[in-house]
Amino acid sequence: MSAPDAIDVRGLTKAYRQTTSGDSVTAIARLDFRIEPGEKLAIVGQTGCGKSTFFDILIGLESPSSGAIDIGGRTPYGDFDHFRGRIATVFQQDRLMPWRSALDNVRLSLELLGLSEQEQISRSTVWLERLGLGKFLSAFPHELSGGMRQRVAIARAFAVQPGILLADEAFGHLDEVTARQLREEFVGLAQASGATAVLITHQLEEAISVGNRILVFGKPATVLADIRLRDWQTHETAVLRDAIQATLQSNAADPRLAR
Ligand SMILES: Nc1ncnc2c1ncn2[C@@H]1O[C@H](COP(=O)(O)OP(=O)(O)OP(=O)(O)O)[C@@H](O)[C@H]1O
Ligand SMILES: [Mg+2]
Repeated sequence: MSAPDAIDVRGLTKAYRQTTSGDSVTAIARLDFRIEPGEKLAIVGQTGCGKSTFFDILIGLESPSSGAIDIGGRTPYGDFDHFRGRIATVFQQDRLMPWRSALDNVRLSLELLGLSEQEQISRSTVWLERLGLGKFLSAFPHELSGGMRQRVAIARAFAVQPGILLADEAFGHLDEVTARQLREEFVGLAQASGATAVLITHQLEEAISVGNRILVFGKPATVLADIRLRDWQTHETAVLRDAIQATLQSNAADPRLAR
C-alpha cells in the first residue's frame, strides 16, 4: 500500500431530485473538513442525514451538486479508475456474489486489479485466514452465518490493500458481541495497515470506541461537531455521549462539545 493522501472535503453539497414528486431533496448541505492520512474517524448522524450519500461521492458513485472532495489533487467521481484498489468499502449488507465461494468473492476485486491468478489466491487466502475463515475458503455465502459473511466482506476490502477503508453501518445488524468483535478487528487491522479509516455508525458506543475523531453530522449533512477524542478523558465518556446525543436531537452543537 502506498501512503494514503489526505481527504479534503470542501463546500460539499448534494441535492437529489425525487423521481416521483420532482421535488429537490438536500442530502448534504455543506460539508467542510479534512481527514488526515492514517486517521481513524467515525461519522455519526441521524438516519437520512446524508452519511451514505457522502460515501457514495467519496467512492465515486455520485457527483456533488457543488463543492468537491479532493484526494491528492484528484476527485473520486472524476477519476474513478485511478481510485480502483485505493479505496475499499464494507457495506451494511455483505454484497457477496452468491454463486462464488468465499475465496472467489475475495479474489474478484484482485482480479479487477489485474493481479496474477497465483497472487489472487495467495492474498485472498491470507486475508480469509486472518479473519478466521481458513476452513471456509470454498464455502458459498449461503453456507455462512451473517457474521461470517461480513468477515468475507472485510477480507475482500483489506485484500486490495487500500489506502482508504470505509465502513458504512457494517456491524450494526449483527448481534452485539459479534459486532464488537468485528469492529475491533476492523479497526485493529486498519491501524496495522496505516490506512485511513472512516466508519459510519449511529451507535455512539461504536463511534467512541473507534479511534481518533468523531464528526457529528446534522440533517441535512453538515458538520455540527468535530470531536478529537484526545481532548476527552476516559471518565468523561458519559458526558461526551450525552452531549453528542443532545447535538443529534437538537440538530445544533451542544455547548459541552466546545473544547
Ligand atoms: N439516489 C437517490 N435519489 C434520491 N434521493 C436520495 C438518493 N439517495 C439518497 N437520497 C435521499 O438523500 C437523503 C440522505 O440519504 P442517505 O442514504 O445518504 O442517508 P443516511 O444518513 O445514510 O441514512 P441511514 O442512517 O438511514 O443509512 C435522504 O433523504 C434520501 O431519501
Ligand atoms: Mg446510510
